[in-house]
Amino acid sequence: MVARQVALFRRAWSSKLLPPVDKKLANLIAAAFQRNEAQEIGQGGSGQVFKVKINETCLAVKTAGDMDYGAGLLENEARALAFINSAYRNGIFSAFYGFGVINLKGKDQDCLVMGFLPGQTLDQSLHSIWEKRKALSFLTVLGLLRAIAQQACLLHVIGLVHRDIKTANVMLHGSGNKVLVRLFDFGLTRPAGELLPIENSCPYVLGTPEILSLGMWQKNPPQITDDLFSLAQIFVCLLGYKALIETAGEAVLPHPAYTTYRSVYQCEEYYKKTLPRAVSIFFNSYLPSEQAVFAWNLFSKMTGQEQAQPYGSCQPLIDDLSSYIALLKM
Ligand SMILES: Nc1ncnc2c1ncn2[C@@H]1O[C@H](COP(=O)(O)OP(=O)(O)OP(=O)(O)O)[C@@H](O)[C@H]1O
Ligand SMILES: [Mg+2]
Repeated sequence: MVARQVALFRRAWSSKLLPPVDKKLANLIAAAFQRNEAQEIGQGGSGQVFKVKINETCLAVKTAGDMDYGAGLLENEARALAFINSAYRNGIFSAFYGFGVINLKGKDQDCLVMGFLPGQTLDQSLHSIWEKRKALSFLTVLGLLRAIAQQACLLHVIGLVHRDIKTANVMLHGSGNKVLVRLFDFGLTRPAGELLPIENSCPYVLGTPEILSLGMWQKNPPQITDDLFSLAQIFVCLLGYKALIETAGEAVLPHPAYTTYRSVYQCEEYYKKTLPRAVSIFFNSYLPSEQAVFAWNLFSKMTGQEQAQPYGSCQPLIDDLSSYIALLKM
């Protein structure tokens, strides 16, 4: 982007007024909570999420929670969602109904009100597949990865980086060929290249440890390659950890981020807990060798490892996936 566009973009991002929740809607939501009609559907790093039905429309109400960084993340997400929805008016992502204080059972709380996305998160569906000791076909894996990359691409072309792409932040609706893929949770979404940390949030909030690119560990300005790195983790999850380990003959993600993590955050304990868990639930122990080579190549280009020429954006990844999908369908 040329300097003028960057300046305009920055202004649009930081000065855009967050549309408040309509008063009438806020009152209806408060009343539904009072009648115990709100159902808690999620609890994440930043707060709680509730489902509430107002006049036949299902809404998701996200609150900030008590963590010291929750309010900043929620406000950032509201800004991102407002920004995204002004760029894409056809509801490619969750609809945005507003951001503001609503009285939830006697307590005034900051709330982000958005459209409820039906379906299951990719995390939930993968777990039910693993529990049945089943695996996704390679074609399904590539199709899902492409759909998620296409969603990420929509953010990138309007100058945003999601920065928290993970299986728990992808919603799937429908089945078979008709599955609808939605990326959500824009708490960490930032303009590409933005140097300022998220307002009203602690600077130590980096994101989800397993999917952080080296740049994110080092608190570099957000860049598209951060999302490509996270997409590689999604690919590993879709495919099965074992396949990549066996193909590569080495542990997945031999990444310098480990070193940074240890020295700065002394969180070895965290990795001790998460890595073995991931390994033990993966199953897909063999892929035909040419598929495995393709998979490893793709993974290397997404993470910028070894001699691979790294992807600089999602489009070439989407193109590579489309070519291979076409080949598999022949
Ligand atoms: N718009 C929505 N429609 C349907 N369900 C949603 C919606 N937003 C959030 N949820 C549900 O609530 C859960 C937590 O939401 P979300 O990921 O936005 O919160 P979070 O606190 O930012 O999570 P984390 O920090 O752990 O990624 C999701 O996994 C999903 O199940
Ligand atoms: Mg989340």
